[in-house]
Amino acid sequence: MGDSKFTKTIACIGAGYVGGPTMAMIALKCPQYKVVVVDINAERIDAWNSEKLPIYEPGLYETVAQARGRNLFFSTDVEQAIFESEIIFVSVNTPTKTFGQGAGKAADLQYWEKTARNIVKIAKTDKIIVEKSTLPVRTAQAMDRILNANDNGVHFEVLSNPEFLAEGTAIADLEKPDRVLVGSQTTELGLKARDELVQVYANWVDKERILTTNVWSAELSKLVANAFLAQRISSINSISALCEKTEADVTEVSRAIGMDTRIGSRFLNSSVGFGGSCFKKDILNLVYIADSYGLHEVARYWEGVVNMNEYQKCRFVDNMIKVMFNTVADKRIALFGFAFKADTGDTRESPSIDVARQLIEEHAGVVITDPQAIENAKTDLADCLGSVEFARDPYEAAKGAHAIAIMTEWDEYRKLDYEKIISQMERPAFLFDGRNILDHKKLFELGFNVFPLGQPSLKHYE
Ligand code: NAD
Ligand code: UGA
Repeated sequence: MGDSKFTKTIACIGAGYVGGPTMAMIALKCPQYKVVVVDINAERIDAWNSEKLPIYEPGLYETVAQARGRNLFFSTDVEQAIFESEIIFVSVNTPTKTFGQGAGKAADLQYWEKTARNIVKIAKTDKIIVEKSTLPVRTAQAMDRILNANDNGVHFEVLSNPEFLAEGTAIADLEKPDRVLVGSQTTELGLKARDELVQVYANWVDKERILTTNVWSAELSKLVANAFLAQRISSINSISALCEKTEADVTEVSRAIGMDTRIGSRFLNSSVGFGGSCFKKDILNLVYIADSYGLHEVARYWEGVVNMNEYQKCRFVDNMIKVMFNTVADKRIALFGFAFKADTGDTRESPSIDVARQLIEEHAGVVITDPQAIENAKTDLADCLGSVEFARDPYEAAKGAHAIAIMTEWDEYRKLDYEKIISQMERPAFLFDGRNILDHKKLFELGFNVFPLGQPSLKHYE
């Protein structure tokens, strides 16, 4: 099976933000395995095989470059990859359903199911199928039924191995994960498959960090991890609103509570709202699952996390309009950052999308700058390109602007020459710091009217 110079052949179906980086790391750490990443999107595969990878991620290019052509291969030949591999990771997308039952909440499993049916059609030998995508709890049961309803004597063992990497730090997260989670059936074949997957990770991850559970716990833990992380952000964002009314400072509150080791300091940065392709979708999925089991109180509890996030985004724009004398019509507003977080070009569910759209509705002249996300921003705002400008250079974006809104915590925005920037802006000049990353006092001294989140504003007028 596979090329004889390799001890194992591993395939990954889905060459996206998860499939590409995770397989590049396995290939880098395990030169004895052949790793083939396949996708139906030929353009994406071409990009993985080129000098300009399809996603921006610090350290990714270096990782791919070391293994590509040696034991890491990107291809559109899904069938060959299924045929030749012993382990198949599936990391296709699982977005929120937009139609039919569960629309707006449940996960759309059509890509997963198509993949499973493709595997059944092509496989001639037993295989381990690894759920890498984030899936609703008990999906493995459905997959097991689809996969093992064949009459050609092939056995498929389904494992759940959810991915916990965060964009922007994917390579560091993969190299030194907090934990790797492997869920399996407790049957003899299930445990054998589990041990085989554990062996793959044991090539570079400490054994104590490789956690094995039953398959349902692994599936559910992934949704719960994202829900808990997002809940911390919504919790601190709810407090930012209260700080603005009480002259408390949310960064001081974060620090004070985060030093309690039971609470911990991470993920307590107040922001214009969390974005990204997963938090909202995974929480809504959890909500849908809870409702479908009749656990409506549980569902409403987690739904509150998403509702608070929507509130935070609206609150940010409402405040901009209010302080800019109740109108932003024909005012030039520069959005600094469009990616959903720093160090990525990904804009999926970015709060910038909602903020830009609300400002456009108010007839503001929106100009967007971002070091990596301009192309994605153009796609996200394709229906209103006439009302928005794009500028790679933040100084250009701010020229003639009435206001700047910091939307993404890119390090370069901390280092800009704001004296030069304000000299080219309309007066009064407004700065809304949606990430609380700038030196507000200094900006105020330069002449800006500064509106941080959850902190007293600094104004040159009453
Ligand atoms: P993505 O959209 O970037 O990539 C998915 C890829 O799967 C696409 O390139 C698509 O063309 C391909 N695909 C779809 N159907 C296919 C098929 N039948 N055959 C071959 N290829 C097919 O998605 P992503 O961000 O990589 O997320 C994938 C999964 O991982 C999701 O379930 C997500 O929730 C989960 N996840 C994502 C992250 C993240 O940071 N993005 C982190 C952890 C988990
Ligand atoms: C998140 C999780 O952190 C990963 O563990 C998980 O694997 C992934 O989702 C997934 O399942 O897709 P990601 O969305 O890439 O990763 O990025 P995060 O660092 O979690 O940031 C999410 C959003 O929360 C960003 O918009 C970020 O700016 C925001 N955030 C984060 C805050 O507003 N405040 C914080 O304190 C931290």
